[in-house]
Amino acid sequence: LIDSLSRGVHEAPDLGAALQFVCDRLHQQEPRYAWVGIYWVEGEELVLKAYCGPAATQHVRIPIGRGICGLAARRKQTVLVDDVCADPNYLACFPTTRSEIVVPILRDGRCLGEIDIDGDAPAAFDTLDKLVLEWVAELLAAKASGR
Ligand code: SME
Repeated sequence: LIDSLSRGVHEAPDLGAALQFVCDRLHQQEPRYAWVGIYWVEGEELVLKAYCGPAATQHVRIPIGRGICGLAARRKQTVLVDDVCADPNYLACFPTTRSEIVVPILRDGRCLGEIDIDGDAPAAFDTLDKLVLEWVAELLAAKASGR
């Protein structure tokens, strides 16, 4: 997975293609990743740029500070929620979602965007997911910098 992600991001013709590749690859590879999306920061908002999953989300623009997505962007830290029903920040997208992980894409202390993954099982994500996804976020930050 690591090899194919790294190769795919490097070979993608532009950032948009790299974002879609990562969503498709993560979703296809890992059944726990029920919905995978990537938001990009535009002004004070997160804007959905790519996703892979069974349905579209109504949350295509999220103000920074709102939802679990907005919280991760503001904190510039990964947010892992084991039970979305118990989290007052949660913005509901899909009735099947039980847990969520949001990993910011950071460069020079700024949040460029984030990877957002929904799981259908409670506590679907762990520290290994966090590590791998933070590594993917670094790949995308490098791609966004033209590296
Ligand atoms: N649940 C997110 C909103 C985005 S959807 O999961 C695709 C949130 O609470 O910010």
